[in-house]
Amino acid sequence: MEVRKAVLPVAGWGTRFLPATKAMPKEMFPIIDKPVIQFIVEECLSAGIENIVFVTGRHKRPIEHHFDINTDLEKHLEQCGKIELLKNIREISRLINPIYIRQKEQLGLGHAVLVSEPVVGKEPFVVCLGDVIIKDEENVLKKMIEIYSRFGKSVIAVFEVEPRDVSKYGIISGKLIEDNIYIVDDLIEKPKPEEAPSRLAIVGRYLFTPKIFEKLKVTPPGKGGEVQLTDAMKLLLEEEAIYAIKIDSSVYDTGTPIGYIQTVLEFALQREELKDELVKFMKNLIIEPSEV
Ligand code: G1P
Repeated sequence: MEVRKAVLPVAGWGTRFLPATKAMPKEMFPIIDKPVIQFIVEECLSAGIENIVFVTGRHKRPIEHHFDINTDLEKHLEQCGKIELLKNIREISRLINPIYIRQKEQLGLGHAVLVSEPVVGKEPFVVCLGDVIIKDEENVLKKMIEIYSRFGKSVIAVFEVEPRDVSKYGIISGKLIEDNIYIVDDLIEKPKPEEAPSRLAIVGRYLFTPKIFEKLKVTPPGKGGEVQLTDAMKLLLEEEAIYAIKIDSSVYDTGTPIGYIQTVLEFALQREELKDELVKFMKNLIIEPSEV
């Protein structure tokens, strides 16, 4: 069965960024001039998925506006002859089919995914976390869809993290069956370093068979009192195989202040028109006072 829908849970409060997130979703924070969420939507599009199901909350309206057609702005850019910009803002709103669904209470990532069930139905679907940008020559979702089409089972993307970082992620253990492909045998959400079965961390890209919904309905609250997606996957594992693909891509977690700053800096250094001035500025900034 074809993978046609992507679920993007974007209802979180963004408490790490308060007060900035009081009225502005963290997913709309710009990486220079493009909001984080647009990178993720573009990743879905380039994997051939145009039905994007946003699981939103009450303060997330700017996301809806962003992916809508803004005829006034388009007219204005056309009149000013700003054709490149026009093309840019036109494309994204016309290429996707956005579907918005409210998560009325924030009971965790697992609960957010469950809220999408009436829209997803009985189809395989992907879940992309709204604050992780992945940069790779080859689209990671595309690779996951290829694995799904071979095995017909759920697939998650993992990457290797430092031992001190295992407690920030869902960690898997598994058996390597092919180059970079594992069959998962266990999962644990945010373990202490001494409890972690490996250093393979779930990166925020999942492809699920619809059976996950059945499991989410019976998953009790876990870490932090929230319904954890990782715990539901552990239940799924009792009935169906789960595959994991280990990726080597650059992963940018924009969900923490330091991760966000690092992402902005790295992306700015990759932009020809910004690079030189930024390097000069940073060099001056970090020079020891005695060297000035
Ligand atoms: C979530 C998941 C975790 C995963 C991580 C990836 O955690 O619960 O399993 O490894 O995303 O970013 P969060 O970062 O939302 O706390």
